[in-house]
Amino acid sequence: MSQAAGKIIIEEIKNNPVSLLTFAAGNTPIGILKFLVQFCRKERNFFKNSFFVSLDEWVGMNGSNVGSCRNTLDSFFFHPMGIDNSQILFFNGKPKNLPRECMRVNRYLEKMGPLDLVLLGVGLNGHIGFNEPGTLEGSECRSVDLQESTQKKGANYFDQNKDLSQGLTLGIKQLMEAKLIILVANGIQKAGILKDLLTKEIGSEIPASFLRRHPNCKVIADKEACSKIEIGAKSFPF
Ligand code: F6R
Repeated sequence: MSQAAGKIIIEEIKNNPVSLLTFAAGNTPIGILKFLVQFCRKERNFFKNSFFVSLDEWVGMNGSNVGSCRNTLDSFFFHPMGIDNSQILFFNGKPKNLPRECMRVNRYLEKMGPLDLVLLGVGLNGHIGFNEPGTLEGSECRSVDLQESTQKKGANYFDQNKDLSQGLTLGIKQLMEAKLIILVANGIQKAGILKDLLTKEIGSEIPASFLRRHPNCKVIADKEACSKIEIGAKSFPF
């Protein structure tokens, strides 16, 4: 899964080095980030002309918090890759003013967007970024209340108890405007939601299902995550 997704990202950057990208944090993409770092050992300047926007962040966290989205991407990608701070626009989860922080990222995307490539994981409840069930298709950057299942899963990223009740996220509209979306899923625990997002009605209940309306979205999953999908029984719109 990681190699397949990593190779697509490398091809995209080769074709368009001045790309605007957003990468999910969380556990699923880590193998992809390691694959990219390994690839770039020989091509140190590979991402030199690319720009990165944050997909999401926990409210109350920034890069100094181990387990935050920024810290994960710093550790597994930005730092080993030598990406300069000037190439990154990331949510500050500890802003003086949350709406203003969202506006800052919205404005950046209005000016620099649309995104060229989006790398997403999927939550057990079907969230993408922190777009939880109930999210509207026209949504943009905003702060959101996180569901209990998201908070519970999120606690695994941190070694201390944290308030994980809110997050900042890009909206569905901004993700759907991207030229290419890659959604990755692995492990048996993602089998149910992967089947649901591919087969259930498209709508807010499963935010990841909106991706089926995207003209260039690739879903890459391992065997366990695919184990509830009857291959050949249905033709998927992806
Ligand atoms: C994290 C993010 C989330 C995760 C999702 C899956 O930046 O955007 O939507 O992708 O919660 O998390 P993992 O990969 O840890 O299962």
